Amino acid sequence: MSEYYFDGKGKAFRPIIVALMARACNIHHNNSRHVQASQRAIALIAEMIHTASLVHDDVIDDASSRRGKHTVNKIWGEKKAVLAGDLILSAASIALARIGNTTVISILTQVIEDLVRGEFLQLGSKENENERFAHYLEKTFKKTASLIANSCKAVSVLGCPDPVVHEIAYQYGKNIGIAFQLIDDVLDFTSCSDQMGKPTSADLKLGLATGPVLFACQQFPEMNAMIMRRFSLPGDVDRARQYVLQSDGVQQTTYLAQQYCHEAVREISKLRPSPERDALIQLSEIVLTRDK
Ligand code: FPP
Ligand code: FPP
Ligand code: MG
Repeated sequence: MSEYYFDGKGKAFRPIIVALMARACNIHHNNSRHVQASQRAIALIAEMIHTASLVHDDVIDDASSRRGKHTVNKIWGEKKAVLAGDLILSAASIALARIGNTTVISILTQVIEDLVRGEFLQLGSKENENERFAHYLEKTFKKTASLIANSCKAVSVLGCPDPVVHEIAYQYGKNIGIAFQLIDDVLDFTSCSDQMGKPTSADLKLGLATGPVLFACQQFPEMNAMIMRRFSLPGDVDRARQYVLQSDGVQQTTYLAQQYCHEAVREISKLRPSPERDALIQLSEIVLTRDK
């Protein structure tokens, strides 16, 4: 069960960023593009933490498909899915301890706290509209960006002693991570399940008001009540969906994602030029144009 998603068919977005960041930092520091074993381990650990969280997330969301296949909970049931997620997380913890660097251990254990707190934030809602957007961005950081930001920071710590570089790596990961999730929230409205390999139009059904909904609500204040009751009345999900599609919510969320990507590019451009640095810049474009 715990090997089920390690089939080479995921996007491997996180390990790719981490491996590129490792090289970009190593080149910046001493002109060596050699990726250390400990840095490679961070790429694996990041994907393991991510996978563990998805296995648990699919239990929480009662999802039956992911990456075009049945979820662990769908095949083996919820109890075993919870334990399979725990097992993946424990494998990640063992690998992390084996690196033997306490700074790196602190950086990556923070991610685990953020993931869980992000998931808790998602269960709550805010009455006040301004607070709601801040709440959404905080949730987005914790749920998605923290893992990318902190994995980037971890490989920079292993590759280079300069705290300025650690901050660049962190800021790049944070901004690209937030953009990635904003686009995920857009794709939930604009893409289809076949393309995504997981259910779409899912967030409203789960009671979640993401970027496109929060922007749409500025144009159609009548959505407020629906957001507050988490789209729980019959017809709420369809009506909210119509409002979103009539509004500029999707465009505004995409525009916001672009802003975060620009910031990521601005940060990473502070490193010495290298093909890997350029790949990280290109990656920000892929985040914005991806359709799965
Ligand atoms: C996907 O969200 C879920 C996450 C990015 C994080 C889930 C985190 C937990 C369940 C906390 C437990 C964490 C660990 C480390 C075991 P989504 O539902 O918006 O995306 P989806 O459409 O891909 O399901
Ligand atoms: C309490 O037993 C339970 C255990 C000793 C083990 C439970 C283990 C899991 C659910 C696996 C997941 C593990 C982690 C680390 C998340 P008990 O009957 O002694 O309980 P009591 O103290 O309440 O009497
Ligand atoms: Mg989910």
